[in-house]
Amino acid sequence: MKATVVANKDFTIAKIDDRVYGAFLEHLGRAIYTGIHEPDHPTADTHGMRGDVIKLVKDLNIPCVRYPGGNFVSAYNWEDGIGPVEQRPTRLDLAWHTSESNRVGIHEFAAWCDAVDTKMMLAINLGSRGLDEARNFVEYINGPTGSYWGDLRKTNGRAAPFDVKMWCLGNEMDGPWQVGHKTADEYGRLASETAKTLRAFDKSLELIVCGSSNSDMKTYPEWERVVLEHTYESVDHISLHMYFNNRAKNTANYLALNHKLDTYIATIESTIDIVKANKRSKHKVAISFDEWNVWYHSNAQDKDILGGTKGWPHAPRLLEDIYNFEDVLQVGCILNTFIRRSNIVKIACIAQLVNVIAPIMTEPKGAAWRQTIYYPYYFASLYGRGTALNLAVTCPGYDADCADNVSYIDAAGVHDSDAGTLTFFAVNRHGTETLDTEFNLQGFGKATVFEHKVMTHKQLAATNTLHNQTAVVPRDGTGARIEGAGLRVSLPPYSYQMLRLKV
Ligand code: AHR
Repeated sequence: MKATVVANKDFTIAKIDDRVYGAFLEHLGRAIYTGIHEPDHPTADTHGMRGDVIKLVKDLNIPCVRYPGGNFVSAYNWEDGIGPVEQRPTRLDLAWHTSESNRVGIHEFAAWCDAVDTKMMLAINLGSRGLDEARNFVEYINGPTGSYWGDLRKTNGRAAPFDVKMWCLGNEMDGPWQVGHKTADEYGRLASETAKTLRAFDKSLELIVCGSSNSDMKTYPEWERVVLEHTYESVDHISLHMYFNNRAKNTANYLALNHKLDTYIATIESTIDIVKANKRSKHKVAISFDEWNVWYHSNAQDKDILGGTKGWPHAPRLLEDIYNFEDVLQVGCILNTFIRRSNIVKIACIAQLVNVIAPIMTEPKGAAWRQTIYYPYYFASLYGRGTALNLAVTCPGYDADCADNVSYIDAAGVHDSDAGTLTFFAVNRHGTETLDTEFNLQGFGKATVFEHKVMTHKQLAATNTLHNQTAVVPRDGTGARIEGAGLRVSLPPYSYQMLRLKV
């Protein structure tokens, strides 16, 4: 089967915001405890953070990490996580039916962010709490010494403000499962007043208001319209979440799901535009897609804990999805979608980062390893930086449940004019046909291929586990060649590829 992809240097979408390669860490299961934090681990640093995990995270070059939740944040007291560790209270976490020791709080998380060289993106509790705690939290994090909260921060070991710019105004407030769930009007009013108050402290904060938890919510997309009517001028981003699953065990439908993601983004972009027009505003709100991933492998084993039959365990194994090769293809398609929608998606966070629906897994006292989905995320984060190209793709397609004529090739192109590189990410969704693909290069001059990575596997169900950590890994591709103004490459059935050219 043949595919043609035209890449013209002047047909661009937008400069990709590096923050679309962000991640998310929640106080949930073993994401924090025995995930990033394990003082007894042989690789632990002076803050009790696992060095082996720091290395795997650092390799990903993640620009920002959202914290501390998630559903957890909606009943969280940030003050529980400051001050001497031995005096911190153990609380019941109502979101995940577990205990929270608070051994890790904002200071420990900040030190970890420094160690992995990333920025903090903090979520405020607008579920069980409200405006006053929000303002206190922001002042504690960013306020000057010589004021109550700044001085308390200094007493707790940190004189200089943390200088956190990105603030989420609550989490999934449209979801009936959320502690303190609200209607769009109730939430919109609260978010608007909170934004106004935080801006009185610092106009330069980047504020993120909650959009829908997924595009199947009954309130979507009216939720976004109403919330933006309340908050439009005072926020910078509206947050969207989406998780993908193949419970139906239908690979063709599964791999088409990024079309649903694409429609979701397009719909909210239109909603933003409608509110902008209604308000005669010059301000443009962007999308923060701050939770996305595959999530379905783990649900059965989580039922007991979430149902409360195990009491209130501390850091149990929860949401520990073991990803397979099929999920590599899915994550590749999702990341391609964010690149193609980089005009409006300015932040995105893989959810989550360690142990909990995560690209990195750990064993207490033992190894840390890369799940299958680590690799497409790694390649996109490292090399998907620059300007997104508006590719013209010609390729046969198939009809899926969520969209018709889904092209067998899913491709994204990124031009980094400073580095002089052109990078393509491509997924072949066909299970039996190789795609003989020509990337028609226009306006780039002489091009040479200098890196080609491929992921294929005989079994879609293949996984990387503690005892077989490298069953699914990338390898060097062969056969990619420049012919005239074209890059020719064969994409094997069910494959993920990254091709890098010097231009
Ligand atoms: O990432 C897991 C959970 O998914 C988050 O806590 C919540 O925001 C979403 O529903």
